[in-house]
Amino acid sequence: MTVSADVDNPLTQLTLDQLRRRTSVKWRLHPPDVLPLWVAEQDVPLAPPVAEALRRAVELGDTGYAYGTAYAEALGGFAARRWDWADFPVGRTTLVPDVMTGAVEVLRLVTDPGDAVVVCPPVYPPFYAFVTHAGRQVVEAPLGADLRIDHAALDEAFRRARALGPRPAFLLCNPHNPTGVVHRRDELEAVAELATRHGVRVVSDEIHAPLALTGARFTPYLTVAGAGDAFALVSASKAWNLAGLKAALAVAGGDAADDLARMPEEVSHGPSHLGVLAHTAAFRDGGPWLDALLGGLDANRALLGSLLADHLPTVSWRPPEGTYLAWLDCTGLGVPTDAPAGGVASDLAGPARMFLDRARVALSSGHVFGTGGTGFVRLNFATSPAVLTEAVTRMGRAVTG
Ligand SMILES: Cc1ncc(COP(=O)(O)O)c(C=O)c1O
Repeated sequence: MTVSADVDNPLTQLTLDQLRRRTSVKWRLHPPDVLPLWVAEQDVPLAPPVAEALRRAVELGDTGYAYGTAYAEALGGFAARRWDWADFPVGRTTLVPDVMTGAVEVLRLVTDPGDAVVVCPPVYPPFYAFVTHAGRQVVEAPLGADLRIDHAALDEAFRRARALGPRPAFLLCNPHNPTGVVHRRDELEAVAELATRHGVRVVSDEIHAPLALTGARFTPYLTVAGAGDAFALVSASKAWNLAGLKAALAVAGGDAADDLARMPEEVSHGPSHLGVLAHTAAFRDGGPWLDALLGGLDANRALLGSLLADHLPTVSWRPPEGTYLAWLDCTGLGVPTDAPAGGVASDLAGPARMFLDRARVALSSGHVFGTGGTGFVRLNFATSPAVLTEAVTRMGRAVTG
């Protein structure tokens, strides 16, 4: 991916001083001497088409309730252009407040309290908290040693899930957070085959879908053979940094329209009109900005590889195929890991605790990502090359000094 000629790399536009004026959690959880590379917010200005849509709404006082299918149509256009998804089902979508709320509401449609929801750890920590809070039980199917879906483990987990309750589901992370794996079509077809065989409904979290990096291709789960009864949750939140502007879409497969029709009315009260306008503008007009971002992320991924080799040679990683998240195996550092698995995303233990205390770099602690996470950290490289360089240099000094 080359950086588009007419859009500059969004990751090099803001100074640290400008970023520190932000009031979001990334910039406020820790004191100002800490470089925050943890939560999935990006150090970018708003994409111009998104800023323009918001500016227009503010000028008009257009701050009422959301209406219509413009968001779904914009996503449909993006899906056709980027993923060759020609027949995106605008009519089988519904607005939801955000991806996680949408995922839980869909799980409520296709499972009953007490039923099992399968996840593939290490995985985005709220997959545990939200599912448990909704009264469903989590069943783990850990990723393989190559950090990809282990279909034998999934087969076994689906069997256990089915034994625990009559209506199990699988909460798929596509692409996968924290490993950055972009699942291939053949891998997803094998998931669909297993899900059909065991009577498991698949709910695919596709929030990182626009962030496939050079060398990878995103496959929408609903375009996979055998996925007709599945759901996908999509938004522009991660790719265009819009988490504060609430609006996402639940998309039903061809055989799931009746389930979608049972979505309670209150769910569509959650997304904000400004959020819908922003996400619509991102998918409709934010392509050039996204290309520039992907170019910057690709360069940062390469930079991170050389920084790790220089400063932290005992830390190993598999460069992510998508997302802006790097999953770093710090077990070779020999830092004691005393925390139990689970917890909230900002909890720290082991290497992440050490890097915060000694390097003043905030990372996500692997232990909250479930089985296989202890001893790892997740580093968010959606920042400037200068901050990334400073952070990894400090981390190296913390280990050697
Ligand atoms: C896989 C995944 N799903 C969901 C979310 C949260 O999305 P939302 O704020 O739309 O609930 C994130 C945020 O980082 C994520 O990585």
